Amino acid sequence: MEKIVSLCKRRGFIFQSSEIYGGINGFWDYGPLGAELKRNLRETWWKSMFREREDVVPLDATIIMHPAIWKASGHVETFADMMIDCKTCKGRFRADHIGEIPCPQKPSKSVSECAGEKTEPRPFNLMFQSYAGPLIAEENKVYLRPETAQAIFAQFKNVVDSSRMQVPFGIGQIGKAFRNEITPRNFTFRSREFEQMELEFFIKPDEAIEAVCGAVLPWTDGADLTAPQPNWGWQMWHRYWVAQRTSYYAGIGLSSEVLDYHWQTPQELAHYARACVDILCKFPFGTEELEGIAARGDFDLAQHQKHSGKSLEVFDDEVRQAFAKWSDAERSALIERKKSTEQAKENGGLTDSEIETWAERLFNGFYLPHVIEPSAGLDRLALGVLALAYSEVEKTDNKGKSEKFTVLRFHPRVAPVKVGVFPLLKNRPELVTKARAVHDSLKRHFSAFYDESGAIGRRYARQDEIGTPFCLTIDFDTIGENGPEHLDTVTLRHRDDGRQERVKISDLLGIILPQVQ
Ligand code: GAP
Repeated sequence: MEKIVSLCKRRGFIFQSSEIYGGINGFWDYGPLGAELKRNLRETWWKSMFREREDVVPLDATIIMHPAIWKASGHVETFADMMIDCKTCKGRFRADHIGEIPCPQKPSKSVSECAGEKTEPRPFNLMFQSYAGPLIAEENKVYLRPETAQAIFAQFKNVVDSSRMQVPFGIGQIGKAFRNEITPRNFTFRSREFEQMELEFFIKPDEAIEAVCGAVLPWTDGADLTAPQPNWGWQMWHRYWVAQRTSYYAGIGLSSEVLDYHWQTPQELAHYARACVDILCKFPFGTEELEGIAARGDFDLAQHQKHSGKSLEVFDDEVRQAFAKWSDAERSALIERKKSTEQAKENGGLTDSEIETWAERLFNGFYLPHVIEPSAGLDRLALGVLALAYSEVEKTDNKGKSEKFTVLRFHPRVAPVKVGVFPLLKNRPELVTKARAVHDSLKRHFSAFYDESGAIGRRYARQDEIGTPFCLTIDFDTIGENGPEHLDTVTLRHRDDGRQERVKISDLLGIILPQVQ
């Protein structure tokens, strides 16, 4: 980690926020290369959701929203970590981190070694607060959003009414989220300001599928998840999204070797969640969560419907028509089955009369969609991608002197600079002019870096260190000095194996573009 943190600062990926004033704990800035890296990652997510699919649409909502949203979502009441204070060292810790984190007064020691007396654990709400308007008064209190998801639920009806999307479909959003983490740590991994990429994918309730298709397809090991089917219930949709997100990660270089999965146990699950799987990534400090994919039932829409007093139901004529064919006995059986599953819930599910109202609405084609939520952290992804790309190679020169070099083996799609363009010599105007022309023609398509200073080997090394997948050298062959057969060709050098090939300038775009897009 130390090497990665130092490379990030030295080459301009990530800086401590407000560093000239001593920094501020839990906040990080992205330098020129970090900003490009993050933008590329954001772009890959955007493309996978909104360009490659037809059933997901974007939203860009405000960070500060009506505070009632956070009451309805449960964040005001329960979005808290248990906090413990040490009466001796005055440190403040998350109760579940005790024993893992350094004591602030004795950084070499962990908290469990600090013998100081601890307070009892008590809840600490993680939402940042502010006031909207000139009066600092309770009625003006607002929160910086701790997740982007709630805006999607709050705007669900507007999106449905304006976009003509029909269930199953998704709404996705990328944006900042804020959490007043008690102990930010592991570089950017747990920050107080970070960016999320969240999808809420709305599906029909299983009972509606049962009516339309006769039965819900049960999940079985090895089931085909490639194309969604009309008889999929929440379990298949949940597995489908785990598979989709896994293939997204593979597409940016995070293969199955560096990922893992944690299926939350019933004890770990939030009371409204039916299932949740964390996609984990092998960070240098351990295998930790990159993304959570939760099946949340209709909890969120139901909460907002209740608190706002506005209907968030959709009408589905296919469902109405399917139930119209059901006998009274079949309807009663569905209601009885629902009652017994709700009664079995630990936190007490719906009451009998709520179930009867719900069933009446459903039989008429009205329901609250259920949701599958793949929720990823952009900063965690950037950190994972950086850490996994990091490698060192040792090279020995012809005098036998060996030197260590850093190579960031980014997938070309995420690399902040796609191509380095070099004239062989900077004091030969014909080479410089040609190299400038090649650079100009490429830079409008992707980020290209022009460099004429130092030996070619040094220039390659500088690009390897920031993960540039391709370098081009413009030499005397390019300008036709060694015969017409090489005129307008350049040396294309590949970062990972150092391979060099002679390529026509007119072929460059065709070779590079498909690999970096
Ligand atoms: N809407 C669901 C939700 O917010 P979460 O597991 O709390 O779920 C989703 O957060 C993702 O956001 C995490 O998997 C992680 O990648 C990222 N994330 C959460 N807290 C973070 C923090 N303090 N710093 C950086 N990333 C964070």
